[in-house]
Amino acid sequence: MLTSEDNKRLTQVGPGTPLGNFFRRYWIPAAVLEEIKEPGGAPVRVGLLGEKLVAYRDPDGKPGLMKEHCPHRGASLAYGRNEVGGLRCLYHGWKMGTCGKILDMPAEPADTRMKIMLTHGSYPVKEAGGILWTYMGPADKMPPFPEFPWTNLPPEKLLVVKMYQDSNYLQGLEGDLDPAHPNYLHRDFDEAIARQSWTGAGWQSISDLMSDGAPAIHVEETPQLMRVGAVRKTADPAMAYVRTTEWIAPFYTHIATGPHESQLFKAWLPIDDESCFTFYIHHDARKSLDVPAIYANWGHRADPPLYRTPHTVANMHLQDRKMMVDGNFSGVTGAAIQDRAVQESMGPIFDRTQEHLGTSDKAVIFYRRLILRKLREMEQGLELPGTAPGTNFDQRAASVYMPSDAPWQEAVKWIEAQEAGEAQPAGDKERSL
Ligand code: FES
Ligand SMILES: [Fe+2]
Repeated sequence: MLTSEDNKRLTQVGPGTPLGNFFRRYWIPAAVLEEIKEPGGAPVRVGLLGEKLVAYRDPDGKPGLMKEHCPHRGASLAYGRNEVGGLRCLYHGWKMGTCGKILDMPAEPADTRMKIMLTHGSYPVKEAGGILWTYMGPADKMPPFPEFPWTNLPPEKLLVVKMYQDSNYLQGLEGDLDPAHPNYLHRDFDEAIARQSWTGAGWQSISDLMSDGAPAIHVEETPQLMRVGAVRKTADPAMAYVRTTEWIAPFYTHIATGPHESQLFKAWLPIDDESCFTFYIHHDARKSLDVPAIYANWGHRADPPLYRTPHTVANMHLQDRKMMVDGNFSGVTGAAIQDRAVQESMGPIFDRTQEHLGTSDKAVIFYRRLILRKLREMEQGLELPGTAPGTNFDQRAASVYMPSDAPWQEAVKWIEAQEAGEAQPAGDKERSL
């Protein structure tokens, strides 16, 4: 349970709010590059941290991100003419440059000083990994760009999926902090079918977690933010099934995947206080992705410009009651839609004064306390997690069987050993699998 005050601190993202200031201290995704593919093409609306923006690619191929509403009298620049160096408003022809300069005011006298005195809000951008990234914070606090290794993969090894969610970002993010929920929400009754379908998506190991619906949950702080471990019992008391999740500030996570499986990086991107986009970034450095299988499993395929699937609270996410008898626990198709169904069902911003948290919520509780502490530290001028030069962004989350007496934090070592065909990690002399 949270106080109403803390619930606001953790869910309000607009300019000037504590969390909004925190999020603005990081490089974050603004759009996917497919939205602004064509040089000189139509600008697209971008809602980000409670601000209305437009992204575009000018006729020279240079991307930009600026406030949506014209500084003159507010017409939307999403309707604007896309010209070299910036956008021209349809209403009276003002031209706003990519770096925020007003380049032209044709209806004003040639010697008007307004052109020098006014600027138009714009943000720096960078293209990497199929995404247009931006930094919306103070210039003197800009951190190094987070060099996630997947941003350098070729298109056949990288799939960026963007999906709209009708809730505050925290409801979504807390689902990824919750290792116990898949045993219920994502359960298929026919294990063979479940295993086969997840295997198609390169994710056989997820069906292994169904063996224990009350995992022991462990949490620790890291320089990037935090790490979660869920340890499950197996039929052999000497062996545990361990899943880890890595968290990188401000709202990124690596989800656990098994030996030789494709990997998943996620971003929970607030549009405003009541809606968000999830970015599912599937990647595999070793082989091409099976894109149809990934879409089939997650059900998260959504198209521009809105990136919405047909599922809503109003249509109960197309829940099928018959399927709940002989198909799966939720009656909802697709793991991403199952997550969204419960998270959107809570309403736009859940009143967390009404919760009753238990042992399975350990990582959720840890995350909230950690972020509230980081907000205080930011206000004291202290360094924020994941912003120091040299921060390691080459992380991995693991889904692996390992000896139950080995530390859960070593899950990545165990998975790497198994992928290399070793019985145990180098230097680990005593144990055997
Ligand atoms: S409202 Fe944009 S130029 Fe007048
Ligand atoms: Fe889930």
